[in-house]
Amino acid sequence: MKKIFLDLGLQPITNNFLNSLNKNELKREFFYNLKVTFNNKNNLVSLSNFVKPSKMFNEKYAHRASMSKTMLSSFKNLANNLNLKFKPKKVLEIGSNDGVFIRNFKKDNVIAVEPCKNLAKLTNKMGYKTYPNFWNLRLSQKIKKKYGKVDLIFSANTISHIPNLDEVFSAIKIILSKDGIFVFEDPYILSVLKNISYDQFYDEHAHVFSLMSVSSILRKHDLKVVDLEKLNTHGGSLRYYISHADSKYKVKNIVNKYLKVELKNKLNSFATYKRFGLKVKKSKFELLKLLKRIKNNGERIVSYGATYKSATIFNFCKIDNKIIDYVIDTTKNKQNKFTPGSHLKIYSPEKQPHQKVDYYFLGAWNFKKEIFLKEKNFILKGGKFISHVPKVKVL
Ligand code: TYD
Repeated sequence: MKKIFLDLGLQPITNNFLNSLNKNELKREFFYNLKVTFNNKNNLVSLSNFVKPSKMFNEKYAHRASMSKTMLSSFKNLANNLNLKFKPKKVLEIGSNDGVFIRNFKKDNVIAVEPCKNLAKLTNKMGYKTYPNFWNLRLSQKIKKKYGKVDLIFSANTISHIPNLDEVFSAIKIILSKDGIFVFEDPYILSVLKNISYDQFYDEHAHVFSLMSVSSILRKHDLKVVDLEKLNTHGGSLRYYISHADSKYKVKNIVNKYLKVELKNKLNSFATYKRFGLKVKKSKFELLKLLKRIKNNGERIVSYGATYKSATIFNFCKIDNKIIDYVIDTTKNKQNKFTPGSHLKIYSPEKQPHQKVDYYFLGAWNFKKEIFLKEKNFILKGGKFISHVPKVKVL
């Protein structure tokens, strides 16, 4: 049974950056009530109502994975490692975005799936066969008929976006070769709980996984987790290595180790999530208190990174341009637009209206290291950063 443990109020589509603030544009803005649930049958954390995928993943999709140097180099390393380890003849990627992963493979060996048509067009142009569709059983059958089974399936930050997980895994099951490997990574619920990073909940994140919940769903499909890696991406993610239940792979110790850690942290108990819900309320109160105090001192706060995560924060905490002046982001197709719901203007960092910024709020807190390196001068001149994870504070 699913039970709600967190209500983040009315929220917009996080990818819906507005071109202007005229009446018509504002009238068209879609809001839904963002509530988060825990299912005690399979220990899965999911949104109470899923937003229709076509509302989120379409030809206007703004996020470009290769915008960040951290992502570019980590996907390159991963592709090299997977090639060495599994020597796949045929590779399939689900949710290939702008090709940040597949660009590391030979064009003839890769099949990509990307429902955002603007992105699929981009990678098709690069010479990578990309299906502009959502991942489902029908598509998997179609690809298998044309190319046969695949040895390596990869998916980063995509499986958590798909409401129907049974369909995801049955589609994987039929196309994965006998000793093939399905590698996927998504934000980890234990990191969310530890960081109080409630901003991991937004329209696209239909689910936030634990190993327990993934294992429970895999069992139904005769698949198993054989290996795991803990990643720092998105503030803490897990990378799951999955094979057929009867594959040649033995389950590595780390898998059992993580199951024990999850049990110790009571990820199978509703009370754990309920407690997290209370901490979120406190985090909101403290963030507003800090931002308002700075603002009342006459200082300027700008948000760093027009992230989807920050849409949850701004709309939940009701932060608008009375508190945060504007947002900066290096992604070209976010620039000169307005953030969903909170309607803050987004500028390129080079073209921001004020040279004197006192505080940057880390909307992209998951890139803190990369940003601190880049903003050495700002820090040297006394500029400060604010973050809400793991605790609201000035850094
Ligand atoms: P991302 O990490 O994908 O977060 P979310 O999934 O919540 O949207 O987005 C990071 C955003 O931050 C992206 O729009 C690029 C931007 N960014 C900058 O503007 N400058 C930077 O130095 C970095 C690292 C990211």
